[in-house]
Amino acid sequence: MKSLLWAFWYILPAYFANASPVLVGGGKPIDGGRFWRDGRRILGDGKTWRGFAGGVAIGTAVGVFQYFITPSFYGSFRTALLLAFALSFGALFGDLVGSFFKRRANLPRGHPAVGLDQLGFLISALAFAYPVKTLDSGQIIFLLVVSPFIHWGANYFAYKMGWKEVPW
Ligand code: CTP
Ligand code: MG
Repeated sequence: MKSLLWAFWYILPAYFANASPVLVGGGKPIDGGRFWRDGRRILGDGKTWRGFAGGVAIGTAVGVFQYFITPSFYGSFRTALLLAFALSFGALFGDLVGSFFKRRANLPRGHPAVGLDQLGFLISALAFAYPVKTLDSGQIIFLLVVSPFIHWGANYFAYKMGWKEVPW
């Protein structure tokens, strides 16, 4: 039980990084409006530089905040900072890869892709963070199971708050 709560504490920067572009994103798209050879956008207008940079900054800040609450969990400030950055960068990088595949599957911006939308960012975040600090396999399975529900809940909340056009 306790180790599952630590898994949640560990992944928190990735959740914040993934969620914050809804509020801080906008402006220039990362793909610069360019098209892939299939004639569709490379990533689409939903992936912006501001969303990416803002998400990495917010996720990393969450990790710094967490260090001051539970320093012994991280061991050192350097580890906490590196972990939060790796989780946040990994989450948003995975999100870009997901959108790349969505565009190749001819899904328009904002169209749901069940599985990819909820787990792509998470798997990428875990992969980037693994060299910094590891979880055991039970903790990883726990995160894979609960994250889709947290993702759906957070998106529904953002929709109800009027931050998002669609509840997914
Ligand atoms: N966002 C952003 N920059 C990013 C990621 C997200 O600006 N790197 C913003 C966009 O306004 C986006 C919103 O956050 O519409 C929600 O993100 P997400 O659901 O990941 O994007 P979608 O619009 O659903 O686009 P896609 O179909 O490519 O997933
Ligand atoms: Mg979406």
